Amino acid sequence: MATIIDGRKLAADLNAETAQRVADLKKRGIVPGIAVILVGDDPASVIYTRNKDRKAKKLGIRSILKRFPADARQSEVLASIQEFNNDDQINAILVQSPLPDQLDETSLVQAIDPAKDVDGFHPLNVGKLYANEEGNYPIPCTPRGIMTMLNKYQVPVAGSNVVIIGRSNLVGKPMLSLLTNANATVTMINHLTADPQYYTKNADLLIVGVGHPKFVQAKDIKPGATVIDVGINRQSDGHLVGDVDFDQVKTVADKITPVPGGVGPVTIATLMQQTVDLAEWSEQDAARKAVNC
Ligand code: GUN
Repeated sequence: MATIIDGRKLAADLNAETAQRVADLKKRGIVPGIAVILVGDDPASVIYTRNKDRKAKKLGIRSILKRFPADARQSEVLASIQEFNNDDQINAILVQSPLPDQLDETSLVQAIDPAKDVDGFHPLNVGKLYANEEGNYPIPCTPRGIMTMLNKYQVPVAGSNVVIIGRSNLVGKPMLSLLTNANATVTMINHLTADPQYYTKNADLLIVGVGHPKFVQAKDIKPGATVIDVGINRQSDGHLVGDVDFDQVKTVADKITPVPGGVGPVTIATLMQQTVDLAEWSEQDAARKAVNC
């Protein structure tokens, strides 16, 4: 029977570290700040953004949840991003997706100051991760959180065969970069891949984010594999399930994340961690500029 990767415990540990770092920054007169922009009232997005806002405040981070009606115009949201770009009290800006159809998400993300891009979605930060650049820059929070999980549970990455199911900008593609940069052999497949089992049966580590309940079953898994489930699907009875048939797959895998209580809490904890990273980097940047003056 597989070891269950306890995302709630990992998140609690990470949050405790983040709270300590916030306290240390406050001693130096700095309060990290995050601004979350939510357009419309998509029920899942309302819950996610409320959770982010509450967690930030609990950790001592200044948090602004800026809401717009579903019919907001591009220029209004853009003006809000520019305001936060110019606000010294805000280190991190996040535009919650999905956005209503009339808004152009690409140009909104490109308007965020790359140094405040806490999601790591700005093309400059995407490019830095792809190129495995050294130095400080934000990385999409779910993939970064998964790397933390693998590290904490001592899942080998270098030299492993990894299969990622799903090619999203949010998870699949940054995950590919992180794992490739860490010397894994990575194969990325999607919902149209012919014979997905051909790939998944050979994976030491399988990462699944396709948005289909029970997409991955025990027969798809290499015995002893680690399985990371990024899916969040709400059943008709209101229950949340992942993309992996958890009850079956846990009998074959060596380690597995549950849904809920796996990747989700670690993603929010990583968002908080990265907000504090951005505040620290901004402080370091200001100190460097002061020396060079
Ligand atoms: N919607 C679902 N997950 C995310 C996320 O990580 N960032 C943003 N901006 N929107 C999301």
